[in-house]
Amino acid sequence: MLNLDLTKLEGFIPQDYLSQRMAGLEKAASMLANHDGPGGDFTGWVYLPRDYDKEEFARIQAAAKKIQQQSQVLVVIGIGGSYLGARAVIDLLASPNYNLKKKDTPDILFAGNGLSTDALLETIALIGDRDFSVNVISKSGTTTEPAVAFRIFKALLEEKYGKEGARERIYATTDKARGALKGLADAEGYEEFVVPDDVGGRFSVLTAVGLLPIAVAGIDIEELMGGAAQAMTELSVGGAENPAWQYAAARHALYQGGKKVELLACYEPCFRFFAEWWKQLYGESEGKEGKGLFPASVEFTADLHSMGQYIQEGERLMFETVVQFAPKGEFIIPNDPENVDGLNFLSGKPLAFVAQQAMRAVILAHVDGGVPNVRIEMPALSAKTAGYLIYFFEYVCGLSGYLLEVNPFNQPGVEAYKVNMYALLGKPGYEEQKKALEERL
Ligand code: PA5
Repeated sequence: MLNLDLTKLEGFIPQDYLSQRMAGLEKAASMLANHDGPGGDFTGWVYLPRDYDKEEFARIQAAAKKIQQQSQVLVVIGIGGSYLGARAVIDLLASPNYNLKKKDTPDILFAGNGLSTDALLETIALIGDRDFSVNVISKSGTTTEPAVAFRIFKALLEEKYGKEGARERIYATTDKARGALKGLADAEGYEEFVVPDDVGGRFSVLTAVGLLPIAVAGIDIEELMGGAAQAMTELSVGGAENPAWQYAAARHALYQGGKKVELLACYEPCFRFFAEWWKQLYGESEGKEGKGLFPASVEFTADLHSMGQYIQEGERLMFETVVQFAPKGEFIIPNDPENVDGLNFLSGKPLAFVAQQAMRAVILAHVDGGVPNVRIEMPALSAKTAGYLIYFFEYVCGLSGYLLEVNPFNQPGVEAYKVNMYALLGKPGYEEQKKALEERL
C-alpha cells in the first residue's frame, strides 16, 4: 500500500547507511515485538490492530450511534495524545470543513486542548441551543486543561438536561482503575471506555481515545483498524526490504550526518492535523537526553510561498519527508478562448497533473538546495489508507527511538511545566514550590 522513495537521499548519506544499521534495526524490531526494550510496558500499540478489545470496540460503535441520534454536536475534551489523533483522522478523512458540511452526523467541537477563555466562550456559543454530548478523554484523569473544560461542560449539560439526562450524554475515556476522572465517572455512572495501560497517549489513536470521536464523525473504524492491521502484518517482516526499517535507518543516518529537523510536507490541506499528531508522536518519543530530530511540518503548495525561502536557502539543517496521496476525484482545467492569463497550455489537464509537476519541481529544487528528500507515496485517502499510515509512522517511531538509544515511550519533559503550574495555581501539596517560584518571577 505504501511506496517509499529514498532515491533523493543519494549524496547526503553513506550508500551503506542501511546495512550499517541492520543489527540495530533487528534489535529494535525484536524489542518492539517482545515488549522488552526501554519503555516496553508501553508497547501495547504494536499488536493493537490484532489484539484490540472487540467487546469494547462494539460498545464504541453503539455509543457513536447513540450520540449521532441524540446530539447535533459532540464536544471532545482532551489534550495532547488524548486529542490530536481524533482531530487528525477526522480532518484527514471527513475534512477540515467537516462542521461546515451538510451531513447527518454531529458537528465535532474540540475543547480542553488549551486554556484560552475566548476559545472556550466561542465553543459554547457554537453549540448554541443545539443538543450536545461530551466525550471527555484523559489517560491520567488529572490533566488540568481537560479537567477544567469538563467541569464547565458537565455543568452546562446538567443545567440543560438535569443530572440524569447529562449522564446519558457523557462518555469518559480514561484509565481502567486510576485517576480523578475514573473516580468521577464511576461515581456519576457515565459510560466508560479504557485507555489501555500499555498504550501511551501519543500511540492511542486506535484505542477508544481516537475511535469514539472518529466513529461519531461517520468514519468506518473497522476499515481504519483493517488498514493498521495490514501495516502491522507487512511491517513485522524484518529485513532490508521493509520500508519502516529503510525509513528509520535513513532518518537516523540523516540525523547523524547533521540534519536536525525533519520537515513533514503534504499537498493536501486535510493533512494539517495529521502532521500535528505526527509532531507529538516524534517530538515526545525522540526529543530527550539532548537528542532527537525536531519534527516540523509544512503545507504545500501554500507554504512554498512563505517557508519555501528558508527551506531553499536558510540554515542547512533539515530534510523533508513528503507524503503524497493519489487524488480521489478529478478536476479538469477549463479552456479560455481569450487566454488573457496565458494559461491555455494547461487547458484540458487535470489539476492533479499540475500538483504532481509542482511536487516534482519542489523536490528537485530543495534537493539542489541541500535538503534531502524522502517521499511516501500512498493510494487515495480512505479509512484503510489512514490506518496503514498511522501504524507505519508509529512503528517507524518505535524503531527510530531505539536506534537513537532513548526510551521512545516516556515523556519526562512534559511534567516540568505541569509541576510549576500546579504550584503557581496553589494546588494543595505544592506550597514550597509555589514560594520558590514566586520569588523567581
Ligand atoms: O503524551 C503525553 O503524555 C501528553 O501529551 C498527554 O497526552 C497529555 O498531557 C494528555 O494526558 P492525559 O491523557 O493524561 O490527560
